[in-house]
This record gives sequence, C-alpha cells and structure tokens, in this order.
Amino acid sequence: MDGFDGRCVTDCEQCPDLVASRSQIVNGVGPDDADLVFVGEAPGANEDEKGEPFVGRSGSVLDDALGDAGVDRSAVRITNCVRCRPPENRDPTTDELANCRGYLEAEIESVDPSLVVTLGKVPSEHLLDRSVAITNEAGDVVDCRLGDRSQRVLLSMHPAATLYDASQRDAFEATIASAVSLAGLGDGDSDDGDGQSRLGEF
Ligand code: URA
Repeated sequence: MDGFDGRCVTDCEQCPDLVASRSQIVNGVGPDDADLVFVGEAPGANEDEKGEPFVGRSGSVLDDALGDAGVDRSAVRITNCVRCRPPENRDPTTDELANCRGYLEAEIESVDPSLVVTLGKVPSEHLLDRSVAITNEAGDVVDCRLGDRSQRVLLSMHPAATLYDASQRDAFEATIASAVSLAGLGDGDSDDGDGQSRLGEF
C-alpha cells in the first residue's frame, strides 16, 4: 500500500471528509511487538492535535485502568479503526472504516499480539462484522478473522462510557485487568511481557 510502512500511514487521501477535518494522521503507538493491542474508534480533538491515540480524558481512564492492572501504557500498543478525526466527532462511516481496514489489519499482523481489545461498540462491530450489544458482551473473548489471520479478541466498553456513567467504571477496570492477564502481562503474572517466563526468580 502506498503511503504505508506496515504499521504507520504517512499519506492517505481516500476519505474526503476526513482529509478536510484532520490536522494530521494519527497512527498507532506502542511497541512494534506488543502482546496486547487496543483498538479504538477514531481520533478525537486531543488525538488530532497531539498525533497520538487516546491522549484525552478517555486516554486517562484507559491509562489508569492499565496502571491498576500493573501495566504502563508504554508496554501496550494503542491504535484506532480510523486514523483521521471525523468532523464534529461523528462516528466513522462504513466507507471510512473500509478504507482504513487494510492499515489496521496490516498493523495487527505485523505486531502479532496474543490479544486485541476492542474499545467500544464501533471497533467491536467492525472487527467482528456483526452487531454487538457491548454492555452485554463486554468481557467476552472471541476469535475473529483479520485478513489472513485468526485473532483472539476481547470485547470492552469504550473508556468514555465510564465518564458518562461512573457505575461502569468497575466493569471497565475488570475487563482491562482481564486483558492484561490474558496477554500474560502485569505484576501478578509469571510472564514479564516479552514472552519469556521469569524462570530466573526460582
Ligand atoms: N476515542 C477513540 O476511540 N479513540 C481515540 O484515540 C480517542 C478517543
């Protein structure tokens, strides 16, 4: 794909509304070999300004939940279904999601994580290619087809849901803790995140 290095898009003008509304393309951040990859919907105003996914209030909620689970944000990869900010923060359209799909699939294939976590309804429905009742299905682990690979995916509510409804916070934190554990990361696990067990401790 032109304007794409396997993980990052350097140049793309496929979506006219997004080209008009973005100030930059927001690529995924985090290790190129992360065990855990979070997939959000699309950049918002803060992300568009900083050029990094989840750096606004939703990002703080995610960072806190990761921290509570014993993992620093820098240890995971964070990306979005769509890499350019939609106008007025509307949902990405079906065409926009489809235009960006190849980048997302290639990024996930290149990183090859043990677990992908979809943050919210839009990325969950996009990756599973079916409608998702996220309040009921958050916490479920499914296998999904991503390009040529079968990928283990954990469904999560969007961190912003906890800002609208504080009673969702415990459930969100439990899902993130489960993601950390399933990916073999975090303080409480016997794996230190590089895929090697800490055998030297014994
Ligand atoms: N919400 C998202 O879905 N993605 C971001 O990067 C920020 C907020």
